[in-house]
Amino acid sequence: MYHQDQARPAPLPAEAYFSDEFFELERRTVFARHWHCLGPVGELARVGGYLAREVMGIPIVVRNEDGRLCAFRNVCPHRQSVLVRDGSGHADKLRCQYHGWEFDGEGQLSHLPEGSSFRGFKARTACLDRLKVDTLFGLVFVNFDLDATSLPDGLGQLAVDLVPKLDRYSYHWMNSTEHDCNWKVPVENSIEGYHSAAVHAKTFGPLVDEKLIHHELGPRHAYYRSEGRYQVSPRSQVHDALVRTFLSAGATPEPQHIQAGIFPNYMIDFSYFTFLFTVIEPIAPRRTRFTWYGFLPGPTPTTRLGRLARDVYSRRFFGGGLKILAEDIAVWPYIQRGLEASQRRSVLGRSEERVYHFQKFIADQTAVDLDRKSGNQP
Ligand code: FES
Ligand SMILES: [Fe+2]
Repeated sequence: MYHQDQARPAPLPAEAYFSDEFFELERRTVFARHWHCLGPVGELARVGGYLAREVMGIPIVVRNEDGRLCAFRNVCPHRQSVLVRDGSGHADKLRCQYHGWEFDGEGQLSHLPEGSSFRGFKARTACLDRLKVDTLFGLVFVNFDLDATSLPDGLGQLAVDLVPKLDRYSYHWMNSTEHDCNWKVPVENSIEGYHSAAVHAKTFGPLVDEKLIHHELGPRHAYYRSEGRYQVSPRSQVHDALVRTFLSAGATPEPQHIQAGIFPNYMIDFSYFTFLFTVIEPIAPRRTRFTWYGFLPGPTPTTRLGRLARDVYSRRFFGGGLKILAEDIAVWPYIQRGLEASQRRSVLGRSEERVYHFQKFIADQTAVDLDRKSGNQP
């Protein structure tokens, strides 16, 4: 059942989806204390492993220093070069690619080549800008705010509730693509099922009956649970049953389809034996990275048959997911074009109440002047 009893005008104006000014405002407000997901622990699991990439346009690097993860702005205090190039790998030291300055796990300068040339320079003042770093269900997160609350707290109560469930899964697969649309377009697309009958007519099918749907709207999340299953063919049911038998000892299918939007830009999705973690990263006002991290229950099986079943299931489920996602992706540029040409405020129906809740969150965080930007009412 829905909480809302009538349609409402959307809290955000259309320019929130393309204006440079609003994008900057979001960076300073919505994302200022945000835990940014960088991806799987991967190389970082061993000492000396590192991962370097951009977050909100800022190069950052995370390293495993003697078993402890450390994160820094990936910029050298000497002449501001990016220290290490984007990617992951292994290196004995964090060393700048330009003149070879080296830094320790605290970000302090630990080696200054041709030090005699720097007489009068206080080496201890040359330190890297630190970030907070943490891991959750095998993924690495960083926060630019050193006083930020812990990662589960930052992700909201819902994430705390789901952590024990997530711990039963292990990371298996990822898919990352970039798109010409504002980041809120895929977020909003992911937190409503109203479009399903039109966009996913040949795959997902229409939304299940409202009586089977439960919405929970929290301060930082919008939670969806569905008692019913979407259309599944008899053939796929047999396939599922076979795979369930071999997938993971003791694994049980999720009885419900659970989808949780964790604001501003994460989505947790449980269905059957699969858990998907979605990260929707703003790159520019009209450019967005959409990443899926796929998880399967339990550790990787030790038997060949178990691993085969896991791979078959993974290909079937994640492949099916990508097919559905492709239908959404095909619409995003048109939503973006429409928003940029719009002269009126959108309207949101009852079943789109999670979108309303998300937009209200963004409007509150940015303290956008809704009256000034209200435009025409629908
Ligand atoms: S810019 Fe990094 S060592 Fe010179
Ligand atoms: Fe969709």
